[in-house]
This record gives sequence, structure tokens and C-alpha cells, in this order.
Amino acid sequence: MPTPSTPAPDVSRKARQTNFRFRCIACGDLSDRAGQDFRCAHCGDLLEITYPHWKESAFDAHELKSAWRQRRLSQSAIDLSGVWHFRDLLPTLDDNDQAITLREGNTPLYELPQCARITGVPRLFAKHQGLNPTGSFKDAGMTVAATFARLAGFRWVACASTGNTSASMAAYAARGNMRSLVLVPDGKISWSKLSQALDYGAVTCQLRTDFDGCLKLLQELVLRAPVYQLNSLNPFRLEGQKTLAFELLEQLDWQPPDHIIVPGGNLGNSSAIGKALLEMHALGLISHLPKLSVIQAEGANALVRTLREAGGKQLVSVHAETRATAIRIGNPASWKKAVHVLEATGGACEQVTEAEIAQAKAEIGAEGIGCEPASAVTLAGLKKLVKQGFVRPEESVVLVLTGNLLKDPDFTMEFHRGDLLKGTDESASAALNSLRRPPIVLEATLDAVIRTLEQAEKS
Ligand code: F0G
Repeated sequence: MPTPSTPAPDVSRKARQTNFRFRCIACGDLSDRAGQDFRCAHCGDLLEITYPHWKESAFDAHELKSAWRQRRLSQSAIDLSGVWHFRDLLPTLDDNDQAITLREGNTPLYELPQCARITGVPRLFAKHQGLNPTGSFKDAGMTVAATFARLAGFRWVACASTGNTSASMAAYAARGNMRSLVLVPDGKISWSKLSQALDYGAVTCQLRTDFDGCLKLLQELVLRAPVYQLNSLNPFRLEGQKTLAFELLEQLDWQPPDHIIVPGGNLGNSSAIGKALLEMHALGLISHLPKLSVIQAEGANALVRTLREAGGKQLVSVHAETRATAIRIGNPASWKKAVHVLEATGGACEQVTEAEIAQAKAEIGAEGIGCEPASAVTLAGLKKLVKQGFVRPEESVVLVLTGNLLKDPDFTMEFHRGDLLKGTDESASAALNSLRRPPIVLEATLDAVIRTLEQAEKS
């Protein structure tokens, strides 16, 4: 680990030679440089990346779309990345070989016929970000942010995480020959995610605090040691995550869906998708904006409360508790960015219970797709938005599934064994019995297996 006295590389060393600037989301200050904490030097708020030359250069939307179509024929590493595929709308590199890529992005857009029947919304799709190289949407942001960390000369990268960011960061650091430091809440993340960080060689610290405590400590660390932070308050992360929306619209032949629904934790992803939608609209790539809605777990509902109790003007933090551990976050860093994109696109913000999450996860699994619990809040939230009349049956809806089913096998096993909601919500749990498929232990005889098959056929 570098000592605090080692001089810190300049996080924005390359920024001056490229196509973007940093802009403070509160005071609007524009700068070519960003500090280690990625906060405005004047008011301390978050930075975003902005592209001043976009106005003058007036991209031709048709030319961009046809360049992207053409790129699909290429076999070069940068073109095979579903993120760098859209590099015209990202911070530029001097050389394509600089990108640290695992061929992220390129994720499928699935129809969800069974969930469509359940919700009464026939045109229902899932954009499955869980099919990224490390199994979550984080890879799309990480390829860009890790690349800029290496360009800025950093040897160490670090993040606080509920699991997926750390898995992704560790993989991209390893690919880029950098060392990585992971801070995770002790006992509150799934073993699958933790094991990924270990396998990719990260120095992994399980801190006796929650995610919010880990993130706070990281903020202090980056001011003391030459460590590049790869949490989503790093605006390069959000630039990479924007490409989820570019890719989605390309898959829909640039016809925007009526609604996009995304889970909300630290609120980086919703902010990134919203930024992408606004940019696509401004550049004439899409004719109108989809409504972007954010769904949170009831036990980690800081954004819901921020909007309901403070009109979106100040953050209402919560003590977060949910079995959807990926979004077990009470003090979301990007709340202001999320409020902005919700308002700009006319989206909604809802919360769902633990039982609703478990049910939705099983219903997505029954489609043969599967996702992790945090992703399932989207389907649970859609049911509420339909009931409220915010989503109408004739409208088209895309759910963003953020993580792979294999990310949290304990949740899935406990659900199917009937243990998940024990002692919390017994009546809600009993109502989900028809969705449960617990493993059956049998004598190893043909009769026993045939009897089981017959019983299953009747049920
Ligand atoms: N879904 C999954 C699977 C996640 O891992 C996360 C966040 C979210 C949704 C929420 O996204 O934070 O951008 O609003 N996981 C982070 C992590 C916090 O450390 O892996 P968000």
C-alpha cells in the first residue's frame, strides 16, 4: 500500500488533452481538473462530466447511428466492447489500446411474456445487465473509470461496496495491472461477490460498519493516500454506465420505450441512465424521453423519503435494512443527480416490501432468466406503478436487471426452502408457497423419482 506521503497522481492529468470538462452539479463551476474526492473545489458537491464541444460540432444523429452499426462488423477489442462501441459520446482516449476492457456491455434485451401477463403490460422487456463479465451492470462503468485511473498514473484503485462494485473493480484492476483495495461491510454482502474480489486479487477489508460507513472512510482515505476511488461518485463510472441506455435504444431501433425502471441504491445507475437519455434527446438520437423510474426496498428508501418528505430538496438518510443487500444503502451519494433525472424525464419513485421483492425475483426466475434480489425490485415496483395508473397497459416498459441470479444463491435457497421471510412476515411468506420449488431428497430408486414426477405433474 502506498504511504500517505507518496505524491498523488493527478486524477485529471489526461482530461486536459481530451474532449470533456468537469462540471459541479450544484454551482455549475467548470474545471479541467478534479480532486481525489471528485468534489467541487468551491462548494463540495458532486461533479459530472460535460462535453462543451458537442454544441458546436453538431453531431449528425444519422451518421452516428450508421457509424455504430458499422462498428458491429469489427473484431478489434475496443469495438467488441459494448461500452467503447459508443465512445463518440464518452471521454476520448488518445489511443484505443488504452482501454481496459473485458468486452463488457452487449447485454440482451429479453421479452418477459409471463411477467407481462402477471402485470397486465404486454410490451414488457428486461435489459439484463447481469450478463456482463463479472455479473453486474458495474462493468460498464468500470471499464471507463479503470481506464482513466491507469491513464492518470495510479497504481492503486479502491472502492466501498455492497459487493458488485468490488467484484467489478477487482477484475478491471487486475486486467489493467493495478492493485485494488476493497472496503465492504462485514457480514452484509453475499459470499459470491466477496469471492470474486478475492479471486481477482483485491486486498479485501471487511469493516465492522455498513456500506455508508465504508464509503465515508473511503472519502477520507483518498485525501490521505494516492488511491483512486472507483465508487459511482467518480463521474467516469457514470459515463460508462450511460451506454446501457445507448445500447438499449439501439436494440429498440431508436424507438424509446414509454418507461424504463431501475433499482435505486447509491443512485449512480439511475443518474447515468438519465444523463444518457437527456444527451440522446439533445443530440437528436431519440425523438422523445422515456420516463425513468427508480424503485427502492422499503427498508432502504432514502430517495423515496427525500422526495416525499423534503420535496427532493435535501437528503433524508435512513438506517438501511433489506435482504436485497446490493441496495442496502441509507445515505445515497448521487441523490441530487437522481432527483434531477427523475424530474427531467417525469419518472416516479416507489418502494417495495421484502415479500414483494422475493415474489418478483421468483417470477423473473420462472421466465428462465433470473436475477439478484436488488434487480427484482423493478418488477415489484412495476406492479405498484400499474396499480397507481402511472404505467398504463398499452405502454412499453423496460426493466433494468442489474445483477446475475448467481450473485446471491443464499437468498434463492432460503426463499425456496421457505426460510427467507421466517419470523418477519409469515402471512406474506405463506402466500408465496406456490412459487417455491425446494430441493427434494429421495432414495435413489426409479419408483421414488417417478412418484415425484407424477406429484409434480398434478400440482
Ligand atoms: N442493483 C445491483 C445488483 C447493485 O449491485 C446495485 C449497487 C444497485 C442495483 C443499485 O445501483 O447504487 O447505482 O443505485 N451496488 C453497489 C455496489 C452499491 O457496491 O455494488 P446504484
